[in-house]
Amino acid sequence: MLKKIEHVAIAVSDLDDALNHYRDVWGLEPDHRERVEDQGVEEAMLPLGDSYLQLLGSTGPETTVGKFLERRGEGLHHIAYEVDDLEATLADLKEKGVRLIDEEPRPGGRGHMVAFVHPEGNRGLLVELIQAPRHA
Ligand code: CO
Repeated sequence: MLKKIEHVAIAVSDLDDALNHYRDVWGLEPDHRERVEDQGVEEAMLPLGDSYLQLLGSTGPETTVGKFLERRGEGLHHIAYEVDDLEATLADLKEKGVRLIDEEPRPGGRGHMVAFVHPEGNRGLLVELIQAPRHA
């Protein structure tokens, strides 16, 4: 059901500043940067081995990440698991009574479909399920 950790997402107050930090301190460079308007985020993907670090900035104080930063400050925001079949995974979790933020897959960054699992009911961890675009 779960294939791998696709990315670990870190909320940051200033994306450009954070990218400088990750370049200067860790030697990591982004290979993708994108604003996902309906999620209220601007994200940068830094390849690391077979996965990514995702730096997550907010597009404003009223967004989910904006509120997170206000409440908790910068730091770990969520972990994304790659799955083969997002619909089937959501159906399985529903059957197990796990609380979902997204009942249905929705478009995320990089043309992927995503859905979030509520941290309540998952031992305090916000999880993003992610399915890569299918190539014909
Ligand atoms: Co993510």
